[in-house]
Amino acid sequence: MSAHTFNTGQSEAKQSQSKINIQPRHVKFDFADIQTPFFYQDNPCISAVWVSLSASFPLGEAEFIKSTKQFEHNITDPKLKAEVKKFAQQEAHHSLQHRRLNQAFEATGYPVTQLEAEIKKELLAREQKWSIERRLANTVAAEHVTATMANWALTHPEHMAHFPESLRELFQWHAIEEIEHKSVTFDVYQHCVGRPALLRWQYRYFLYFHFPFSVYLSTRFLLKTMGYKATKADLQGLHNFLFGKGGMIADRKHHYSAFNKKGFHPWQIDDAGLVDEWQMKLEPHFV
Ligand SMILES: [Fe+2]
Ligand SMILES: [Fe+2]
Repeated sequence: MSAHTFNTGQSEAKQSQSKINIQPRHVKFDFADIQTPFFYQDNPCISAVWVSLSASFPLGEAEFIKSTKQFEHNITDPKLKAEVKKFAQQEAHHSLQHRRLNQAFEATGYPVTQLEAEIKKELLAREQKWSIERRLANTVAAEHVTATMANWALTHPEHMAHFPESLRELFQWHAIEEIEHKSVTFDVYQHCVGRPALLRWQYRYFLYFHFPFSVYLSTRFLLKTMGYKATKADLQGLHNFLFGKGGMIADRKHHYSAFNKKGFHPWQIDDAGLVDEWQMKLEPHFV
């Protein structure tokens, strides 16, 4: 990987603007170190938030692939077409690994299968109600949020250190690939749909309503089904994790809001260097 200075001028808006090579990697983690449900600092709320995210990945990422591939035949830019393939390969492997991880979570008591059944119902309803353009716009929104969380994860090893090793490394590998392919669905949307108002609306809907609300409901469902009632200290810990110094939301507010700016492109946030750095650190896990 080389130049990390990106020109994302409007004239190129309809072609791929990715300046980084997308490289699907295969990994195999052993989740034997996940022995307790409250693996993150003994905090049930923070732990369950991560479980609810992982539970949503296999079906969610399948929807990302599906909603993007529906436009594949309209793509005339060969570079973008090739990137869609690699994006789909990466997401498919993420789904596979998160399925394995979700089994490990289930073994500690989390009702992941039940939660997945609810997610499936919601996605089916969405498929029937939403246009294919809106589904793609939603995927673009989710991809920006995922890439922002990935950037946070790779720049905050002090927070990631609280995870069991296998879980930490799985999230770090996932984060590398989310950054690598972060502009693919955005470019497909620009190339094939190009309705900025719909995208802006869908991004706000996803970021300020759908995503936080569904993580909240899923987390509550997981803990309630396990018979755990969060204490004041648990909630305070979660609040600090999200909004405290270096917190996952507080520390990346500017990345989340950048999407709303006119002429935004994901590679205006230059984090290709993080991919180089973490590629070397995680190399022993790639098979
Ligand atoms: Fe992914
Ligand atoms: Fe992704």
